[in-house]
Amino acid sequence: MEIEMRQVKSDQLKPKPEDESKLGFGDIVTDHMFLMDYETGKGWIDPRIVPYGPFEIDPAAMAIHYGQEIFEGLKAYRGKDGGIFLFRSKENFKRFNRSAARVCMPEVDIDLAITAMKKLILLDKEWVPCTEGTSLYIRPAMLATEPHLGVRPANSYLFFIIIGPVGAYYKEGLNPIKIYVEDKYIRAALGGTGEAKTAGNYAASLLAAEEAKEKGFTQVLWLDAVERKYIEEVGTMNMVFVIEDEVITAPLTGSILPGITRDSALHLVRDWGLKVAERSLPIDDVIEAAKTGRLKEAFGTGTAAVISPVGQITYKGEDHIVANGKMGELSQRLYNEIVGIQYGEKEDPYGWREKIL
Ligand code: COI
Repeated sequence: MEIEMRQVKSDQLKPKPEDESKLGFGDIVTDHMFLMDYETGKGWIDPRIVPYGPFEIDPAAMAIHYGQEIFEGLKAYRGKDGGIFLFRSKENFKRFNRSAARVCMPEVDIDLAITAMKKLILLDKEWVPCTEGTSLYIRPAMLATEPHLGVRPANSYLFFIIIGPVGAYYKEGLNPIKIYVEDKYIRAALGGTGEAKTAGNYAASLLAAEEAKEKGFTQVLWLDAVERKYIEEVGTMNMVFVIEDEVITAPLTGSILPGITRDSALHLVRDWGLKVAERSLPIDDVIEAAKTGRLKEAFGTGTAAVISPVGQITYKGEDHIVANGKMGELSQRLYNEIVGIQYGEKEDPYGWREKIL
């Protein structure tokens, strides 16, 4: 399918951020976006890159009422030589299609979506920042547009990709964050939509996150929905714990997001010969390990957050300091390796990196 291009007039291009070192996360978008429509019976139609701007949506659009919305998050990285790289982007679109299937939305043609994404990035390439710690965040998303108030899967959808320069996701940057172990609310239950990147999961997480924020925490650590016993994830990241010499993360049983950074980190630590377990880890074991000095490190993995060290875990009113509140050795090594591959500075034995400019 041919992608139509309608570009912003050169005198109407937006100003770029003046100081890239001050980029936060998610406030700035570029000049263009990609759109494509779907209708039952016709499939995907009218792929187009157009000036960035609001789109019209019917107040009865089913996404608004019943939450048929999914999204992805990935990044493009500017190398020191000015080149632009993607990292495992196909994995994001595969996950996008799995999310689509879970909430009865149509799958996209992965090759077409990736072609469109690359065209969009290259058109807005001046927006890919070059300061250390920055990147271009890519947000593909899909929503149900059919105006209808009965509950069923919609017959029309809009797929779109928007992009924008970002810095660190957390204001702490690479400094360790404080997390609050949530034992009242839950994020997702087995059999639910936890492994899909659908808007409702994030809506469900907000109240707990706000309450934790009021108490001074950056994020909440979710426990399993049934027993409030086993570690799940941290909403914007998967979690990894190093207890003695074992690297432990929750298994992909359906209630947590199958993170691509999680998978990359697991590949690396396995190849480094470390002992790795994807297993259900009781929070009590983590706390016990923290108390006895056996919890060496805790960190999150995610596209937006990369590798984010945890310096404090608070559970049932008790604070536990992890790795003396500093970034641990493994967190740092993983961060260096993953970022090194992403920005074209390290060897890429896995073929994860793709140069697009
Ligand atoms: C990401 O890591 O890209 C995410 O989508 C997490 C968050 C920004 C929603």
